[in-house]
Amino acid sequence: MDGAVAVSGRDVRRVRGDASPWQSIAARLARTIVVVTAASGRDHHGMTADSFTLVSHDPALVMVAVAVGSRTHRLLASVPGFGVSVLAAEQAAVATHFASRRRSPGIRQFDLVNWETAPHSGAPVLTEALAWLDCERRDLVPAGDHVLVVGQVVAAGTRNRPGGPLVRCERRYLSLGPWPDDAL
Ligand SMILES: Cc1cc2nc3c(=O)[nH]c(=O)nc-3n(C[C@H](O)[C@H](O)[C@H](O)COP(=O)(O)O)c2cc1C
Repeated sequence: MDGAVAVSGRDVRRVRGDASPWQSIAARLARTIVVVTAASGRDHHGMTADSFTLVSHDPALVMVAVAVGSRTHRLLASVPGFGVSVLAAEQAAVATHFASRRRSPGIRQFDLVNWETAPHSGAPVLTEALAWLDCERRDLVPAGDHVLVVGQVVAAGTRNRPGGPLVRCERRYLSLGPWPDDAL
C-alpha cells in the first residue's frame, strides 16, 4: 500500500524536531478544540484539548484523553465533575493560552476570558464558547500515556449567535462556519 509506515514506540517520537511519519499522519485528523476545566476549592484550572468526543447518547457521555501526570489529570482524578467549553471559530488565541505552560496558575489563568460557573461541577466555563457542558465524572480509563476521562453530561448550554467551531488539522487552527441559514 502506498505510503505505509510501521508504527512502533520509536516511530511516534520526534527526531530532532521533525515530525515522525506517524505524527504527520495523525496531524491529518480534523479535531474539535475544547477547553476542559475543573475547580477544587480555590483551585481553578483549564486545559486545551483536541481529544474530546461524544461516546454515548443515552446516557449522554463524553470523553477526553488527558496526559498522565499533567495538572489536569491530577485535578480531574480528584473532583466529582468537570466542564467542557467548545471553542468558537474565532477563539484560536484562547486555545493557545490554555495550552501554554506559562499561563498563570489557578483562577488567574482565566483573567483573559469571560467565564461563568457551571451549575453542578462548579467548573469555570467560557462565556464566549460555542457551547459548554457540565459533566459528572464517571470513569478514568488508563490508555497508554493518557487517561480517558469519561463524563456524563448533566447540564449544557449554547451561545445564542451564529458561528462554527474551532478545528485543528495539519497543525493549523481552522474556522468552520458561520453556516448559511438553510444548512441547519
Ligand atoms: C491544539 C491542542 C490540543 C491539545 N490536546 C490535548 C489533549 O487532548 N490532551 C492533553 O492531555 N493535552 C492536550 N494538549 C496539550 C495541553 O493543552 C498542554 O500540555 C497543557 O499545558 C497541559 O496543561 P496541564 O499540564 O496544566 O494540565 C493540547 C494542546 C494543543 C495546543
